[in-house]
Amino acid sequence: MIPHPAPDYVRIFDTTLRDGEQSPGATLTADEKLEVARALARLGVDVIEAGFPCASQDDFDAVRRIAETVGVQPVSGRPQSEPPIVCGLARATRPDIQTAYDAIRVAKHPRIHTFLATSPIHREHKLRMSKEQVLARTSEMVTFARSLCDDVEFSPEDAGRTEPEFLYEVLKVAIAAGATTLNIPDTVGYTLPDEFGAMIAGIVKNVPGVDKVVISVHCHNDLGLATANALAGIRAGARQAEVTINGIGERAGNTSLEEVVMALHTRHPLIGLNTGIDTTQLVRTSKLVSLRTGMVVQPNKAVVGANAFAHESGIHQDGMLKHQETYEIMRPETVGASKTLLVLGKHSGRHAFAVRLRELGTALEGEALEAAFNRFKHLADRKKRITDADLEALAASEIGRGREYFSLDAVQVTCGSNGMPTATVRLACPDGECRTRAAVGTGPVHAAFKAIDEIVTAPSELLEYTINAVTEGIDALGHASVRVRAASEGRLNPQHGSGHAAVFHGNAADTDVVVASTKAYLSALNRLLASLGTYDRGVKTPSKPDNAPPGAAE
Ligand code: KIV
Ligand code: ZN
Repeated sequence: MIPHPAPDYVRIFDTTLRDGEQSPGATLTADEKLEVARALARLGVDVIEAGFPCASQDDFDAVRRIAETVGVQPVSGRPQSEPPIVCGLARATRPDIQTAYDAIRVAKHPRIHTFLATSPIHREHKLRMSKEQVLARTSEMVTFARSLCDDVEFSPEDAGRTEPEFLYEVLKVAIAAGATTLNIPDTVGYTLPDEFGAMIAGIVKNVPGVDKVVISVHCHNDLGLATANALAGIRAGARQAEVTINGIGERAGNTSLEEVVMALHTRHPLIGLNTGIDTTQLVRTSKLVSLRTGMVVQPNKAVVGANAFAHESGIHQDGMLKHQETYEIMRPETVGASKTLLVLGKHSGRHAFAVRLRELGTALEGEALEAAFNRFKHLADRKKRITDADLEALAASEIGRGREYFSLDAVQVTCGSNGMPTATVRLACPDGECRTRAAVGTGPVHAAFKAIDEIVTAPSELLEYTINAVTEGIDALGHASVRVRAASEGRLNPQHGSGHAAVFHGNAADTDVVVASTKAYLSALNRLLASLGTYDRGVKTPSKPDNAPPGAAE
């Protein structure tokens, strides 16, 4: 087991792949989870909560894959280059705990994280358990977890609304049963910073044996206080923060990793605590998670938002020109937000392309590398300045696309101020046929989506569509992001994903925004179809193929 951290060290426990993935529509494929886990290891997180192995076979497999790859590979730049701890979540039941352990045991530093609710409202209405039963179950399950694994974390769920004296008792029992980390969740984001800080101070003072374990904070953002609460807990003695990239998570999300890390970094003279995070990786990791989960980062988001370092007003710009510190408390390069560089041009070869992608943290191989390189060449013919951001967007379109039942063969639109926006779309379909449909819409993208709907006929509803320029300039790549919800008649296959996702996202980049939008929509529909399992069961496309004889049935 990794030794106890130094007193001034705060462990960063990332739960993007578990609590973060519980955001509606943020479901990731196994490849995407692995990609994010690699990025988290590079970022320097101490613990990766890789998932909830009992939720589904897919979740189990994804956690196991992370444990046997990222969980055993040394990471340069980390203390002794140790791989991060890989953690699996489990309810306080034997099957859950055993399954979590089976998924993570291959990691060099495995951790079981088990939880049981302790607040009166959860005891009475959800668990229907008395205080005595909660204490007994905590003892029994932490003991069982500890019989499997040296590193056991216990969370009293809804600690924020638990009676302090009972909370101390539960924690005492968990320590006696062998817990090595006690995580204190404000599950519903109810507490205020001074309250949460006082709760941690109370635990430090009143729980026997607490000096032998690490206290952790896990705050939700329902009142927009997750970061403030986590910092209050850390200042009161917690030495682990459970966080997610971009603060994604259930409802209003979790504490955002980048905010806690940069608060500790920027206010180090006051707080005096350190983390092992390579802050220059923050923006890159934020972009990756946003792209993969389809959860767009608001421009004014602290630390990683597009405007986090933009100075618009004249007074601010004047001040900045005179002295940067007038209006800047962090340097953009500290978080990796410096301007992107001109890196490659139309004469660059496949090798230079692959090397630069690897430097950017994206390792593409085989067909995916070939496809991304072809798209790069195509882009270089149309766009003079190819930047890191362009390369990342191109590579992103090729990673973890999952099953492509339908793929775009061609799209053509007519639109303008006076006409009826019309799109003609030709798709390669799962039965090997090509199908073409045309539709009229309120705009070219609407028309293209309608034409796709006529071919794909997936039971879905469009929830969100955004388009952004990847870089500055009129020739920028457009990055489209789409979220669709399975309509009620679609029955999701619990073997695909965690069973909690009825929202699916897709994204794509192209200099032509209609092409980017069309591909993003198809990608979201393909994910939905994978979840329904329709084409895996060999069901044919219902609509008529292009080469069907006139009058053939649909
Ligand atoms: O918010 C919460 O209580 C949790 C626990 C499982 C730690 O996510
Ligand atoms: Zn949580």
